[in-house]
Amino acid sequence: MFSHLPEPKLDPILSLSVAYRNDPREEKVDLGIGVYKSSTGETPIMQAIDLAQQKVVATQKTKSYVGLAGCEEFNQSMIDLVLGQSSVLERVSAIQTPGASGALRMLGDLIKVAQPNTTVWLSNPSYVNHQPVMEAAGLKVKHYSYFCPVTKQVDKARMLEEISQAGKDDVVLLHGCCHNPTGADIDFDTWQQVTRLAQEKGFTPFVDLAYQGFGDGIEEDAAGLRYMAERVEEMMITTSCSKNFGLYRERTGAAIVLGRSAQDAQNAKGKLLTMARATYTMPPDHGAALVKTIMQDAELTTIWRNELDTMRNRLVSLRASLCEELRTTHNTSEFDFIQSHKGMFTVLGFSQDQMARLREEFGIYGVGDGRINIAGLTEKDIPYVADAILKVS
Ligand code: LMR
Repeated sequence: MFSHLPEPKLDPILSLSVAYRNDPREEKVDLGIGVYKSSTGETPIMQAIDLAQQKVVATQKTKSYVGLAGCEEFNQSMIDLVLGQSSVLERVSAIQTPGASGALRMLGDLIKVAQPNTTVWLSNPSYVNHQPVMEAAGLKVKHYSYFCPVTKQVDKARMLEEISQAGKDDVVLLHGCCHNPTGADIDFDTWQQVTRLAQEKGFTPFVDLAYQGFGDGIEEDAAGLRYMAERVEEMMITTSCSKNFGLYRERTGAAIVLGRSAQDAQNAKGKLLTMARATYTMPPDHGAALVKTIMQDAELTTIWRNELDTMRNRLVSLRASLCEELRTTHNTSEFDFIQSHKGMFTVLGFSQDQMARLREEFGIYGVGDGRINIAGLTEKDIPYVADAILKVS
């Protein structure tokens, strides 16, 4: 049964953490997987999570099953966090999922059941897991131009031109904020124009919001998708607590569906639950219990929001320091674009070979597509990383 299976390929992101750990060199920097590190190089449990955990451990009386949709109070919290005070709330439904990759897969499966011939349009480039997940759901994938390798910004004109070719049976996947891998986000005007195209062409927008709070702020990072949600008939959203609650290993996310009516949204939810039952039955509870505890407690919510602000501001300052180091010590403004990017990631514009040189010669682990995780830097790494970037460029 198994003898014809090919040898496994390594995951382009997750394999880097293992390679980094096994690297015996003293001088090494992990800029691979999207994980936030403090100035001491650790990924600490957030204080709000720590406090919520104490509360949950002290009060939780059972480990019995929760339900197919996971924790409904968590689901409502995710709807509120993502959509705010939107007027569309009565035609929205949500299920808790094992992380945002789980949400992507559930929604991919839902698309396949509801509209089997759908093509999903992804940005070029996009999060490395987008295409495998959509194809695993049996969907066709196309790409729209997104990133200009010269300016290192979004090529807005080409993006809009190519998205305008999407038809009424297509789905267009957008990154809500902090584009992975490039760090280059679309501006509000582009959100408005893509919304207009969705209305005219009839395609369904699908927004992956995995980094809410890491770009410009919790509300600001959802502004584009909220504008869109108010104006389109149908939409899908995935959201993650991996980064903004630091719950990576707890696999805590949600899939949100906006239907034409409340009934449509409930029908979509029903289908998602049937599919969840046939896949994992129900999502793990712990992460969602912690997020729910924070969101239902004003004091914990304030602590969490402040911590998230601190993390975001630190990313901005790390970007500025790296650019400053490249400008002052190395006299180049070639990498100033790093400062205009948002969230954890930046694409340096390096080839696979250049990324391999960073890894092999300097012990700096970025993704082969040229992505580095700014959130993996510590202040003391900056001169070393700037020097290596210059030597490799
Ligand atoms: C990343 O892009 O590094 C993260 O989203 C981790 C993952 O699941 O791929």
